[in-house]
Amino acid sequence: MLPFLRPYRGRVLLAFVLLVLASGTVLVLPLAFRDLIDFGFGERANAHSALLGTESLDGHFAALFGLAFVWALAVSARFYTVSWVGERVTADLRSAVYARVLRQSPQFFETLQTGEVLSRLTGDTTLIQTVVGSSIAMGLRSLFQFIGGMVMLAVTSFYLFSLNFGLMILLALPIILIGRQVKKLSRESQDKIADASALAGEILNAVPTVQAYTQEQRETKRFADSAELSFITAIRRTRVRAALTALIITAVMGTIIFVLWVGANQVHDGSMTGGQLASFILYAALVAGGVGTMAEVWGDVMRAAGATERLLELLHAESSIVEAAAPQPLPLPKQAAIRFEQVSFRYPSRQDTAALDNISLDIAFGESVALVGPSGAGKTTLFQLLLRFYDVTDGVIRLNGQDIRQLSLHELRDKIAIVPQDAVIFSANALENIRYGRPEARDDEVFAAARAALVDEFISRLPQGYQTFLGERGTRLSGGQRQRIAIARAILKNAPLLLLDEATSALDAESEILVQQGLNAAMQGRTTLIIAHRLATVQKVNRIVVMENGRVVETGTPEDLRKQSGLYARLAKLQFDV
Ligand SMILES: Nc1ncnc2c1ncn2[C@@H]1O[C@H](COP(=O)(O)OP(=O)(O)OP(=O)(O)O)[C@@H](O)[C@H]1O
Ligand SMILES: [Mg+2]
Repeated sequence: MLPFLRPYRGRVLLAFVLLVLASGTVLVLPLAFRDLIDFGFGERANAHSALLGTESLDGHFAALFGLAFVWALAVSARFYTVSWVGERVTADLRSAVYARVLRQSPQFFETLQTGEVLSRLTGDTTLIQTVVGSSIAMGLRSLFQFIGGMVMLAVTSFYLFSLNFGLMILLALPIILIGRQVKKLSRESQDKIADASALAGEILNAVPTVQAYTQEQRETKRFADSAELSFITAIRRTRVRAALTALIITAVMGTIIFVLWVGANQVHDGSMTGGQLASFILYAALVAGGVGTMAEVWGDVMRAAGATERLLELLHAESSIVEAAAPQPLPLPKQAAIRFEQVSFRYPSRQDTAALDNISLDIAFGESVALVGPSGAGKTTLFQLLLRFYDVTDGVIRLNGQDIRQLSLHELRDKIAIVPQDAVIFSANALENIRYGRPEARDDEVFAAARAALVDEFISRLPQGYQTFLGERGTRLSGGQRQRIAIARAILKNAPLLLLDEATSALDAESEILVQQGLNAAMQGRTTLIIAHRLATVQKVNRIVVMENGRVVETGTPEDLRKQSGLYARLAKLQFDV
C-alpha cells in the first residue's frame, strides 16, 4: 500500500501528530483524576496541584475541561485527516486497478470474468478503505495508549508492570497466529463473493434467454448455492474472529480485575491512596483496551491483507501483448498495406488446434478484399491478429512493411476502423455512440457518417432524435440498427484500414444495399477487409480470399473463382442458383 500512501505523506504525518496529541491528552487524564480525588475530595482540598498548575477546586475542573476540549479537537481533526487519506487511497487504488485491467488483452478476460473484476474493484477496495481510513489509526492510538499506559504503570509499580507485560506477551502470540488464519479465510471468503458476483453478472446480462428457456429456478438456485458458499466461508472466518474476541475480552477484563485486586490490597495496606488507585485502574483499562483494540485491528488488517493480495494480482497483471520498448514509426501513416507472412496462430486457451495455419496474404494500398469461408474458418481470428489482440504464434504481420509488433499499440489501432461481428453499443445517446469513433469529431461530421450508414433514417424517428438514450448495450435498438450505429462509428473514425466483420448481416436486403452504398463510399481510397457470408455483398471487391480450417484455399476475383470448381464456386452455387 505504501506507493499509494506516499503522495499524501504530509497528511499522514499530520494525522500521526494529531494522534500523538490525542493519546498524550488521554494519558494525562488519569493523573488529573488522581489529583481531583486526592486534593479535591480529600482533606487537602484547595491544595496545589503540580500537574495542572492550579490552586483551587474550580481551577482543577476548569483545567480538566480544557484537557477534554484539546482531546476532542485532536480526535476530530485526526478522524477527518485519517478518513480523508483512506477515501483518497481507495479512490486512487480503484482507478489504478481499473486502468490496469483496461489494458489487458482479451486473453486476460478469457480466464477472469468481469463480475470478478468488479467485485475486487468495489468489495476489496472497501475493505482496504476501512483499514486505512480507521483501523490503522485505531491501532496506532491503541499502541500509544498501550505503551504510555505501560510506562505509567511501570513508574507507579514496577512489579505490577512486569506481571502485566508477561501477560500481554502470552496473549499476543495466539492473537498473531489467529490473525494469520483470518487473513487466509478472508481471502477465501472474498473469492467466494466474487464468484457469486461473476455468476450474477453473466446471468443478469442474459435474462431474456434465461426466461425464454424457463431456467429462472435453476439460475436462482445456482446463485443461492454460490451465495451459500460465500456465507459458509464468511462464517468460518467469523468463527475464528469470534474466538479472537473471546480471547481479547478475557485479556481485557483479566488485566483490569488483576490490577484492581492488587491495587485494592495496596490501598488497604495504606501504601497507596484512593486517587492513585483510580489512576491505576484507568491506566490498566487503557492498556487492556489498547491490547483489545490492537487485536481487533490486527484481525481487520489481516482481512484487508487478503483483499490487498487479490487487488495486487490485478494491479500487477501483465498483458500478454507486450509493447515494443522502442516503438518504430509507421511508414506512410495515411495508408495501409497489409502483409501476412506465413502466419500461424493457436489461441492460448486452445493450444492443440491451429486457428490459422500458414497464411500468406498481400493486400495493397486501397485494395478491397473479401474473406469468405465456412463458420470457424478463422476469418475473425485474422482481424483479431491485425488489431494485435493476440500475437501470432509463427510468422509476421506487416503494416506498410513494418512488423506490427514494432509499432505502438496506439498507433496500430489508430489506423484501423472495425465493425465487429457483434456491434457494441454503450449506454449513452445515439450521437455519443457514433462519436465514439472519433471523440473530437464535429456534429456535422457525425451526422454525415450517420447518413452514410443509414442511421439517420431511423434515428430521426426516435423520440429525441440523436439525443435518444439507447439503453445499456443498446437494448433499445434492433440488431440491424445496432449494426448501423457501429458502421457509422467506423466510418467516422476515418482510418486508412477498414475491417468489416459481417457488418451488414443483420440488415434486410433493401437496407443492406443502401448501407453497402454508404460503405462503398467509405471504402474509396481505403484498404478494406470484408468478412461476409452473403456472397452477393462482395461482388464488387478487388479480390476474394476463401478460407477453410484456418487455411487460404483459393484467391481471385469473384468471376475467376466462380469459374473454378472450388469451395467458392460451390458456395456461390448454393447462394445464387435458387
Ligand atoms: N478466444 C478463443 N479461444 C479459443 N479458440 C477460439 C477463440 N476464438 C475463436 N476460437 C476458435 O478459432 C476458430 C476460428 O474462429 P473464428 O472466430 O476466426 O471463425 P470465423 O471464421 O470468424 O467464423 P464465423 O464465420 O462463424 O464468424 C474456431 O474454431 C473457434 O472455435
Ligand atoms: Mg467470425
